Amino acid sequence: MTNIKEQKTFSLLDEINDIVITNNLNDLIVKELNNLLDNKLKELTTEPFTTIYMLGKTKAKRVVIINFEALNDDKKSKKIIKGITSLKGKSCLVIDSFENEKHLEFIQELSEKILTDNYQFDKFKAKKEKEEKTFFYYSEKAIGEAVKKGYVYGECMNHARELVDTPYNYLNAADLADYAKELERFENIKVTIYNKEEIEDMKMGAYLGVNKGSFDEPKLILVKYQGKANFDDPTALVGKGVMYDSGGYSLKSSQGMQGMKGDMAGSAAVLGAIEAIARLKLKANVMAIVAATDNRIGDGAIVPDDILTAASGKTIEIISTDAEGRLTLADAVWFAQKEGAKKVIDTATLTGAMVSALGHEFTGAFTNDKKFLKTLMDASFKTNEKVWEMPISSGYRKLIESKVADIKNTGGRLAGASTAAAFIEEFINKETKWIHLDIAGTAEEEKGGATGVMVKTFAEIFY
Ligand code: BES
Ligand code: MN
Ligand code: ZN
Repeated sequence: MTNIKEQKTFSLLDEINDIVITNNLNDLIVKELNNLLDNKLKELTTEPFTTIYMLGKTKAKRVVIINFEALNDDKKSKKIIKGITSLKGKSCLVIDSFENEKHLEFIQELSEKILTDNYQFDKFKAKKEKEEKTFFYYSEKAIGEAVKKGYVYGECMNHARELVDTPYNYLNAADLADYAKELERFENIKVTIYNKEEIEDMKMGAYLGVNKGSFDEPKLILVKYQGKANFDDPTALVGKGVMYDSGGYSLKSSQGMQGMKGDMAGSAAVLGAIEAIARLKLKANVMAIVAATDNRIGDGAIVPDDILTAASGKTIEIISTDAEGRLTLADAVWFAQKEGAKKVIDTATLTGAMVSALGHEFTGAFTNDKKFLKTLMDASFKTNEKVWEMPISSGYRKLIESKVADIKNTGGRLAGASTAAAFIEEFINKETKWIHLDIAGTAEEEKGGATGVMVKTFAEIFY
């Protein structure tokens, strides 16, 4: 575990492993350090990153000194961040020595990376690879706010990653609902969990269809964050919460099933985002919605050829029980609109086709409103999460027409990500602004391990 904590006072004589500071002589503490170093600070620190052993001049063994000028160089500042995040033990960051409006972004990124670079899913391992670390930070200026924004993003991303990395036998729909319920510890958050009976009352036949082969009951999760005086015009963040995707009777291969504990990465993203939004006290009304279930074979499981009736009344011919995410999302986006959302962003590990198209590099985005997508794109530029627009059109909509029902749940071999998006669009009202994000490739790194993708971009939209 790695923590970031505020330190209210600071002196060069504090007991700490490492002091991290710049060579910016405008800062009083840097001046003091310069004195301790016989006024040789500038000569000693021409490199981007210099470690000086203090030989008893401070209680800290080492002082890590960042070259203030190097912070303006993108490549060098990336290296500096890597250097700082890999420090061990207890370190103190003297934030005000970085002071410069231009460095706010650096400070934010540094504090985020301190947490995300040190993330390790090791709670099931006796032998931990990384030891406990604490980074203290000291700041008397507003620049400390950037540290806070960074570590809230970092922590919430790590929470999302932990959910994604946790296997199904430790995290089913009920466990996720319990996790969501605990978000009520943050101000202005209300959580409602709907059980199977209540979901049946709402006639969510598509979502319930996916759950029919499951031993575990479904849980529909609604998290509301009210950041304005009235709960008007909320934006809904809808996340795919398939706790495990075996494919159902359209069973996946052993290879294809590996990693499918992560098929709830969309739900992890929306829960992580709403936590960040609440902790940063953003002035927005936001809902996070998850129709959680697993997709398995069991008594009563749906089979191909079945016809399900979604809550909206539309009927769906099942071609593949492995195209289950869109079935849960059909009822989840319907529910979001029923709860008053005029803007809906859904995010889902929806298709293998998305991974083939863009790999692990870009999230694919589909929309019915270019202006709405632009606000998300602008946020993603700030957070460095790569998003690329993908098409939906009448041609793709045609591919999901069914002979026996209103639509069918797969569109055949071609353009799988676009036909999946077109399917969800069928449950979006004309006047709703909607974005669908397929994170099948970006939710995990190529070599495995969750990324926490979209947590910070979703929060940044409301910043
Ligand atoms: N959860 C999968 C999509 C997926 C695949 C995510 C690989 C991450 C990595 C989804 O439910 C699925 O199985 N999609 C099918 C749809 C097909 C049956 C139309 C797919 O992409 O093969
Ligand atoms: Mn599937
Ligand atoms: Zn799936």
